[in-house]
Formats: sequence, C-alpha cells, structure tokens
Amino acid sequence: MDETKEGSRGNAHPRAGDSDVYLLAAHPDWRESRVNKRLLAAARGVPGVTVNDLYAAYPDYAIDGPAEQERLAAARLVVLMHPIQWYSMPALQKLWVDDVLAYGWAYGPGGTALKGKDLWLVLTTGGQEEAYHPSGYNRYFFDAFLPPYEQTAVLCGMRFLPPLVMHGSHSASEQEVLDHVQTFAQRLGSYPDWPEIAELDAAPACEVPPSDRPDADDDADGVADVRHGMA
Ligand SMILES: Cc1cc2nc3c(=O)[nH]c(=O)nc-3n(C[C@H](O)[C@H](O)[C@H](O)COP(=O)(O)O)c2cc1C
Repeated sequence: MDETKEGSRGNAHPRAGDSDVYLLAAHPDWRESRVNKRLLAAARGVPGVTVNDLYAAYPDYAIDGPAEQERLAAARLVVLMHPIQWYSMPALQKLWVDDVLAYGWAYGPGGTALKGKDLWLVLTTGGQEEAYHPSGYNRYFFDAFLPPYEQTAVLCGMRFLPPLVMHGSHSASEQEVLDHVQTFAQRLGSYPDWPEIAELDAAPACEVPPSDRPDADDDADGVADVRHGMA
C-alpha cells in the first residue's frame, strides 16, 4: 500500500445525504500517521458513513461552508477524528468549526440545524494516559482538555457522546492499535445502538444574549452567516 496516498483516497468532496454519519478526519500529515490513517481506512469501510478527509478536501484552507452545512444537516451523528495537537484540535479542524458552525444556523436565534444530533470525538495522543495526570508532565487529566469541544456541541444543541481516545499512539503495540481500530469500527457501525446512549440526556439549552453579538440586527436572518464567528 502506498501510505502517502492512504489519507486522501476516496472522494475529496463527499456528497451530502447518502448517510446519517458524517465523519471529519483531520490530520495535517497522513504520511506521519500511525493510528489515524488506519482509523480512516476503517471508517471508509463502514456502510452509512460519509468520510471527509479535511486536509485533502481543503488544502488551501478555503472551507466550503454551505457544502459542509448540507452534510451536517443530513447527518445524525457527527464524528470529529484527529490527533490532539497542543491539547486541542488541528488548525484546519478549528477553522472548520469557526467557518461552519455559524450564528443563526448552528446556534443563537433560529440556529437549530444541529439540535438533537450527536457529536463523537475520536482522538489520539502522543502522551501516555499516565502523562495526563496531576503528577504527570501534562499536569491535568485528559478530560480537562475537553470542555471546549463539549460546550461547542451543547451550544449547538448536540449531545456529547463519550469520546474514544487512544493514548500513547507512538508506543502502543501493533496489537493495541489493531484492537483500537476494531473497537472504533465496531462502534461506528453499530451507532446508535450503544448501551450508554439511552442514558444520556438531551443537551441543555444555551441561549446567547444579543448583547454578546457584534451587531444584533445582522444576525437573525436564518441564513448561514459563514465567517461571522462567534462574537
Ligand atoms: C504539532 C503537534 C502537537 C502535538 N500536541 C500534542 C499534545 O498536546 N498532546 C499529546 O499527547 N500529543 C501531542 N502531539 C502528538 C500527536 O497527538 C500524536 O503524534 C498523534 O496523536 C499520533 O497519531 P497518528 O499516528 O495518527 O499521527 C502533537 C503532535 C504534533 C505534530
């Protein structure tokens, strides 16, 4: 297999509406990937999953907001899959959030396009689980880095499903990587029949007051105000 091509194989611009799972895979350099590239290949083999390899789709960082919104609107589960970089998401994934989750569409007045959908994080880290501990070099439990993801979901009315995380991606054994990929594919393929889902509450309502917006008159047009940003 030509590993350099693995990440960008398939549709660079997937169509909306042919599945109810929309998976965004964001890896800045698939040639360097050990785990995410295998997760990506596994995701492509699961029926009903639309996969978007973000760095292949938008090498110029010019994200097609309306197309992304169409794919999101068609989905029931949105999956963000990426390596953790500087305790957060890769830059293009962050730009996608900035550009696509627009006021009046994803949140705020009339912003109900994502309400009732689920968000699932599939993350990898270089650091071992023990490093994410008050006595480790990352100083915090890994969960302490997740509230920005979780609150982004909740602000959009989405349920935040328990993330799937692989720590110590560089040092994990081959068998551990294979087992992880298998767990991931099994869960992706069996959504929404996950035991814990029935026990999750709907996202609590979060209203953004007009005073937190740059210009309240501009905003409530219900149209995707791509690139307006949050405040
Ligand atoms: C720019 C950059 C920043 C990174 N930041 C972190 C970090 O904050 N925490 C961590 O545990 N690993 C960090 N890593 C390591 C990656 O998370 C790790 O290489 C990746 O999860 C391995 O997955 P892959 O085999 O699919 O590339 C970073 C890597 C890069 C290149």
